[in-house]
Amino acid sequence: MSGKIEISESGPDDEPAIEALYPAAFPEEDLLPVVRALLRETSGVLSLLALERPSVAGHAVFTVCGLAGQTESVALLGPLAVRPALQRRGIGGALVRAGLERMKAARIQKVLVLGDPAYYGRFGFAPETGITPPYQIPEDWRPAWRSLDLGTAAISLSGTLMVPAPWRVPAYWGA
Ligand SMILES: CC(C)(COP(=O)(O)OP(=O)(O)OC[C@H]1O[C@@H](n2cnc3c(N)ncnc32)[C@H](O)[C@@H]1OP(=O)(O)O)[C@@H](O)C(=O)NCCC(=O)NCCS
Repeated sequence: MSGKIEISESGPDDEPAIEALYPAAFPEEDLLPVVRALLRETSGVLSLLALERPSVAGHAVFTVCGLAGQTESVALLGPLAVRPALQRRGIGGALVRAGLERMKAARIQKVLVLGDPAYYGRFGFAPETGITPPYQIPEDWRPAWRSLDLGTAAISLSGTLMVPAPWRVPAYWGA
């Protein structure tokens, strides 16, 4: 990594830069509706920015979720985006690791992701079978449904993931 990257939580002033980042990182997918809705949540959302001052280099969101019929808290990671010109310099990894540390400190027991198995496998995310997504995902997306245990729970978790409103859009889950 050449420039110095700082990871911090985003604030309202960062929204224009976040809005510019997603269409650049995902030219074929419109993630702005879910990103905007997540940024408007008043609790349970960790929005992390990677800054290479003065520019925003990347962004990641962790959403705290529940499990049907249980008191334990888990979190959903996504979306995650790094400016195309700055990819493959460890910025995505730095965002993921910083978020995982904060989730662990908040006693979150497990972080789930629906994402590229090869990329998230690098951080130890393994196929999740006990916790089911809020909507039925297509069979060929199954390998993308993964989780990382943060070691804060003595029991193995199962049940349906209960997501807040921004994530209750079946299309995000391929349904
Ligand atoms: C995926 C993304 C967030 C990774 O961020 P990044 O800062 O480039 O990632 P890092 O530098 O931490 O890690 C780079 C490594 O991950 C690998 N990698 C990057 N994207 C990958 C992907 N989609 N699948 C598998 N591996 C991937 C690279 O090959 C690289 O490995 P190498 O250095 O050994 O060659 C970024 O490339 C991005 O924004 N992509 C477009 C949006 C996207 O697909 N986001 C969701 C990911 S599911």
